[in-house]
Order: sequence, then structure tokens, then C-alpha cells
Amino acid sequence: MGDGEPPPSQPSSAPLPHPKPPDAITMEDGKAPSSQPSSTPLPHPNSSITSWGNGKTSSPQRSSSPGLTLPYSAMAPSERPQTVDIQSEGSPHSGHSLTSDIIELSAEKWFLDWTTGVLAGSHSNTATFHRPGKVHGVITASPQIVEHMLKSNFENYPKGIRFRTLLEDFLGRGIFNTDGELWKIQRKTASYEFNTKSLRNFALENVTMELQTRLIPILENAAKNERILDFQDILERFAFDNICKVAFNVDPGCLIGDATSGGEFMQAFEDAATLSSGRFMYAFPGLYKIKKFLNLGSEKKLQNSIATVHEFADKIIRSRMEERAEKKDEDLLSRFIGNSENSAEFLRDIVISFILAGRDTTSSALSWFFWLLSSRSDMEEKILMELEIIRQKNHKVIGDTYNFDELREMNYLQAAISEAMRLYPPVPVDTKACKEDDILPGGTFIGKDWFISYHTYAMGRMENIWGKDCCEYRPERWLENGICKQENPFKFPVFHAGPRQCLGKDMAYIQMKSIAASILERFGMDVLLEKGKCPEHVLSLTLRMKGGLPVKVKDRNV
Ligand code: HEM
Repeated sequence: MGDGEPPPSQPSSAPLPHPKPPDAITMEDGKAPSSQPSSTPLPHPNSSITSWGNGKTSSPQRSSSPGLTLPYSAMAPSERPQTVDIQSEGSPHSGHSLTSDIIELSAEKWFLDWTTGVLAGSHSNTATFHRPGKVHGVITASPQIVEHMLKSNFENYPKGIRFRTLLEDFLGRGIFNTDGELWKIQRKTASYEFNTKSLRNFALENVTMELQTRLIPILENAAKNERILDFQDILERFAFDNICKVAFNVDPGCLIGDATSGGEFMQAFEDAATLSSGRFMYAFPGLYKIKKFLNLGSEKKLQNSIATVHEFADKIIRSRMEERAEKKDEDLLSRFIGNSENSAEFLRDIVISFILAGRDTTSSALSWFFWLLSSRSDMEEKILMELEIIRQKNHKVIGDTYNFDELREMNYLQAAISEAMRLYPPVPVDTKACKEDDILPGGTFIGKDWFISYHTYAMGRMENIWGKDCCEYRPERWLENGICKQENPFKFPVFHAGPRQCLGKDMAYIQMKSIAASILERFGMDVLLEKGKCPEHVLSLTLRMKGGLPVKVKDRNV
């Protein structure tokens, strides 16, 4: 988030079939912009799906990951962009303006799809957002601009002061909320540790344990009793348990749903994340400070939630510091404790940032993956076949756990998950601040203190990036001679790119593939949503489904 304004980003509700802009928008030539560079209508990613959400604005069930970016509707009305210029290549300030009314109407309802249409209709896949008398941001789906802001001119595009200040109470100086030297120090240690075999083993052991002792039994039970589950909620609980184990070797037990201090910690964490993001909503940016000073309303609740999170983490950190000499755990905290210069408070900030980074992303990716797969039995068959070949080759039976090598061999599964994230990226829009005036590739001017957002969701739907079938769910596009290829991260910035690229990418794939393989080989999933209708998005910082993902599971072996 920029020092300047919060970005106009985020899913708010019903996704539409195509990135179709409102009729009222015109381009420079006076014609309504096409929703894609070509005249081919965009099919739903899943060809059997023909109708979409009802377009109602969804109310947030919860917000998440303030470390990532801000919802458009979390912007104070006075801060929302009043006009949008559609930039044409090489002419930074030309183009037509979109009125605030249009944005107001549409952005609340289907911001992601509408902005996708706007970006697809612009030659440079880039738009500039204006407020009266002041242009305040750029939004882009151009791989060249993404590379420029995330890598080539990285130093000019930090998170920025505004973002850091608003989130400081909760995140302190953790990796998610820092720029410059403080970020570099944490990044260096963390990237070293994320590459160690011991951390990877530790992460896989935890996933396996949670799968075998919790998730599979829950699904067995639901299958036996024909119970309907909210699978998104289950995946979120799984991810929270898992990231807490990796971060500081604590098991909050959220998936088994007991009312222990772990459950209280999860709830407080959730509230702290939601309320911290809520600070971006104030019409008067400083108002939260007054409320905080007077200990009123949401600020009072926020301070209480933060206190609960900090108390929980502090207790663990203090006791771990005391036993530092004798015991060496594999979790991230233990690895940062090794440096005696790190204070208890700094260690807490580090742990909280990691939990925030790892908690909602894999669950979002898997929810969309299972939904997409639910109407593609041909693809499900291919995954099952791949798993069977791997089991036979390694003399395994259904229910045995998969090791790293076996997971690596799951190329079709990896392609199917990557393809789901291409169309439904867990972090659909990500925002930075601009430190100094700059000219972006393609000629768009960006001023000091403007924000700049790259639109990952739109990029997955750009014909000039992915070809004519860009909106089709087609895992095969990832395969080259049966091997799942690594895509250029500037074209597929789902995990960010450049020096600040997601540290948990490999860990996330290990987790997602283990979960998907173990579930699919044992259970059939019946998604109980209206056939042919895309689930609505929730107003949240990760791409979540409104109302969850109701499923009925069937044991394949009964
Ligand atoms: C499908 C899963 C995931 C996706 C799509 C994802 C995506 C991202 C994105 C877009 C960012 C950049 C955010 C920013 O602008 O600062 C990021 C950063 C980060 N992610 Fe992930 N992430 C995933 C899973 C994880 C997991 C499981 C972990 C930890 C165990 C993790 C750890 C981090 C960290 C530490 C950063 C900050 C890096 C830095 O600022 O240097 N991520 N991730």
C-alpha cells in the first residue's frame, strides 16, 4: 500500500463471466471498449459453466492478510478514484475518463471483472486512476510493467509509509510490514531457512500428520454420516494449524475445533487482521488515532485482539528463549532465535508476519481448484491415473503418505493447481507505493507517492498473455513433455516476483499437492452449488468464496 492512497483493489463480490465493462464506458475512439483485445467472447474457465453470480454486493464475512493489499470498498469514499484514464501506449495522459458513479456502481459489485475489462481494452493493459486535480494511481496487467516494478526498479516501489503505519500495531516490524534494511535482514535469514531440507521436512511432516490424524478422519466421518461440509472453512483451519506449527511449533488445533486457547488465538488473529485492514476505511485518515487514544469502538476491539495475539506469542517466545541453549526445534522461530541480537518483541513480529503470509492463501487456491474440478471429471480421472502410476511404481497403496520425490512426480496435479491459481489467484491484486516519479514501460507516467497495483486476476484473463483460450481451465497448457513447467513470474505473478517473491511457494505446493492427492484418491467430492454458477467472491484480501464451499464427500472405497 502506498504512502499516498490506498489502492482500488479487491474482489468484492459476484464474479461475472467475462471481464465486461459497463456500457457507459467509452474509449478514445468513442466505441465501447471490448472486454478483450479480440472479439472472441470469453468463455467461463470451465466450459460447462454458463451462468454466474447474481451481482449482489457481498458483505465481508472476514477480511484477511492486511499484509497483501486493500479492498476498493475499504477506501474511504473521499479517497476513491473519481476518474480513470485508459492509457494508450506512449501517451501517458491521454484517454477517456470514467466517472466516479460508474466506479462506485460497478466496483462494489464486481471490481475484479470490471477492471479486467478495462485493462484488456487498453493497449498497454494499464489504467491511471485520477482524483479531481490529482492523479493518484496506476493499475496494470502488463508483464513488462510488473517486471519493472517488482524487479528492474524494485527500490522505487516499496510498501510505503502509509501501509506500514496503519499496520504497525499488529505487524510491528515483521517481514510483511517493512521496507529497506529491516526487510533485507529478515529476508536473508528467512530465504536461507526456507531453502533448508530440515524446514521442508518439518513442513511435510506437519502436513502429513494433520492429514492423517484430522482431515481424513473428518472426511470419513462426513462420508459415513452423509454430512455436508464447508470445505473452504476446513481448508482454512488446516492452513492455520499448519502455519502455526511451521512458524513456532504450536498446534492451535483449529481443525479439530476444540475451544482451547488455540481457538481463541485464531479468532483474535482473525479480528486483528480484519480490524487492522479496516483502518484504511476511515474518511479522515487520522481518525483511528483519536479512537485509539480514547480506546473506543473498533480500535478498542483491535487493541484487545492484538493484546491476545501478542500475549499468546510472547509466552511461547519467552519460554523458547529460556531454553534456547538446550533445545533446537525445527520451526522458524527457533531459527531466528539463533541470532541473540533479536529481541523478544522483534521475534514476535517475525512470527506474526509468517502466520499472516501463510494462513489463507493455500486454502483459497484449493477451494477454487476443487470447485473447478467438480465439473471436470475428465481432469479428475487424469489426476487419479497419475496417482495410481506413482503408487504402483513406489509399491504404495491408497492412504500411504507421499514423500518429496513422489510429490514432485505429480506433474498433472501441479498443472491443475497452477491453472486454478492462474484464473483464481489467491492474492488477486497487489499494491506498492511509488517513491519517485517514473516512466513505466509503454510510456505511462507515475508520480511520487502514487500507488501502483498489478492485477494478477486480470493477467490470467489476457489473451495477449495466454492466448485465445485464456479463460478456459486447461491444465495441459502447463505441460511440456509431461513435465509441469515453471512460468515466467512476471506473466504469472501469483507468488509475486523479483526480490520480494513469496518465500513459501515451494512449501505451498507441497501442502496443496499432499492435500489434493490424499483427498482425491480416497474421496469423491460433490459440490453443492448451483450447477453452472460461479461462486461469489467475498470482500476479502485473499480470493475467498462467499458462503464457503459446501460439499458432500463419498468414500471411493466403500
Ligand atoms: C498458494 C499459496 C501462496 C500464495 C499464492 C502466496 C502469494 C504471495 C504473494 C502475492 C506475496 C507478496 C505479498 C506482498 O506484496 O508483500 C507473498 C509474500 C510472502 N509469502 Fe506467500 N503465498 C502463498 C503461500 C505462502 C506460505 C505457505 C508462506 C509461508 C510459510 C508464505 C510466505 C510468504 C512470505 C514470508 C512473504 C513475504 C516475502 C517478502 O516480503 O519478502 N506464502 N506471497
